[in-house]
Amino acid sequence: MKCVDDFRLRFGKQELVPIIIGGMGVDISTAELALEAARLGGIGHISDAMVPTVSDRRFRTHFVKEKLKLYKYNVANSDKSKVLFDLGRLAEATHNHVGRTMEAKGGSGMVFVNCMEKLTMNAPRETLRVRLTSALDAGIDGITLSAGLHLGSFGLIEDHPRFRDAKLGIIVSSLRALQLFLRKSARLKRLPDFVIVEGPLAGGHLGFGMDWAKYDLAAIMAEIQAHLKAEHLNIPLIPAGGIFTGGQAAAFLDNGAAAVQVATRFTVTRECGLPPAVQQEYFKAGEDDIEVNTISPTGYPMRMLKNSPAIGSGIRPNCEALGYLLDGSGNCAYITAYNRELLAHPKLRHGSIKLSVKEKTCLCTHMRNFDCWTCGHYTYRLKDTTRLLPDGSYQILSAEHVFRDYQFSTEQQIALPA
Ligand SMILES: Cc1cc2nc3c(=O)[nH]c(=O)nc-3n(C[C@H](O)[C@H](O)[C@H](O)COP(=O)(O)O)c2cc1C
Repeated sequence: MKCVDDFRLRFGKQELVPIIIGGMGVDISTAELALEAARLGGIGHISDAMVPTVSDRRFRTHFVKEKLKLYKYNVANSDKSKVLFDLGRLAEATHNHVGRTMEAKGGSGMVFVNCMEKLTMNAPRETLRVRLTSALDAGIDGITLSAGLHLGSFGLIEDHPRFRDAKLGIIVSSLRALQLFLRKSARLKRLPDFVIVEGPLAGGHLGFGMDWAKYDLAAIMAEIQAHLKAEHLNIPLIPAGGIFTGGQAAAFLDNGAAAVQVATRFTVTRECGLPPAVQQEYFKAGEDDIEVNTISPTGYPMRMLKNSPAIGSGIRPNCEALGYLLDGSGNCAYITAYNRELLAHPKLRHGSIKLSVKEKTCLCTHMRNFDCWTCGHYTYRLKDTTRLLPDGSYQILSAEHVFRDYQFSTEQQIALPA
C-alpha cells in the first residue's frame, strides 16, 4: 500500500515531500505553520492578505492607525474613491512579513506566499505589483497566485531579477481558467512552475458558482492532465480541496499529481493563526453546520461555519482603516448592501436596534477579527482526527503530527495524537 512518502515533488534538482500547506488569509496560515512545513521538507504558505494589518499585529507597526488617521475625514462618506494605500508602506509591511519569515526558515522545504488578486485595494494593478515585487525582494521561495485569473500578474514582475528563478504558480478550478493563463504567460516565455487545481470542497473562496457540488476534483485533474499531455507541457499539477487522509493524497500522487495541497486539517493545529476558541468551533461542527454562501463582497462563493459572527453582521464599513476589497473606483459590494439597509431602516441609524446586513459581509473587518469562520467541506471530520479531553474540549494538534500523518499513513487511516 503506497503512502505519500513514496513520492517526491521535484523542482529542478530539489526534491521535496509532496505536501503543500495552502495559504489561508488573514494570517491563519501563519509564518509558524509555513515554517513547520518547510522544516519537515514540504512547502508552507504564508498569505499576504491584509499584510499591513498582519505587520501591525506581529511587528508593532502602525500602518492601519496611520491610514485611518489620514482618511478619518471620510469615514461617514459612502464614496471611498480617495481612500488609497500608501505603496511604500505596503512594501514595508510585505518586507516585514515575508523577510522575517524567510530569515527564520530552516529545513529542506520551501515557503511560498499566497497572493489573491481579488484583494484589489482600491488600485488593483499598482498594489499587486508592490505585493509581488516586495515578496520577491524579501526572498520568498515562490508565489502562488490565487482568487482571480491573474492574466496580467506575470507581466507586473517580468522585469524583476527573480522572475525566472522564484517558483511561480497559480490556483485554477477549471481547464478554461488555466488555458487563459497559459496563453498569457506563453507571451512572456514564462510558464508557471506549478499549477494548483482546486476543487469545490476547499476552504476560503471557491472558483465555482453556487452549483459547486456538481464538480469533482479528480475529474478536473484528469481533464487538465489530458490537456497538458496533448500540448506536450510538463507542468507539475497539484490537486487541492477535500484531500483529508494520507491515503487519498497518495492516490492522487499515484495518478500523476506532483504533490497535494491541503489546509483544513491544519486549521486545528497549534501553529495555525485561528484563536483556540474558534478552533473548538471547527472541531465541534457537524456537516449541517457548514454552508457555501455568497456574502463575500468578492463575488466568489465562500464556505464557512453557519455560526460565523460575520454572517448577518451590520457593522459600519471600515475602509478608511482597511479597504482591501475596494475595487479601484472606491466600491465594495458590502458598502452598497450596508447603505441599502440603512436607507430601508432609518430608525436603525440612532443605534436603538442593531443593523443586520444579510446580503454581504464586511470581510476585511471580520477576517481581521477571525469572525468569518471559513473552512473546508470536511471540517466536520476534524473531531475524528483528535481526542476529546475530560473538560469536553478537543485536543489541539501539532502541525508536525498532521504533516506526518499525511506523509506516512495509508488507506483511510488517521493517526490520533499521543
Ligand atoms: C481557513 C481557510 C482559509 C483559506 N484561505 C485561503 C486564502 O486566503 N487564499 C487561498 O488561495 N486559499 C485559501 N484557502 C484554500 C486553501 O489554501 C486550500 O487550497 C484548500 O482549502 C485545500 O483543501 P482542504 O482545506 O480541504 O485541505 C483557505 C482554506 C481554509 C481552510
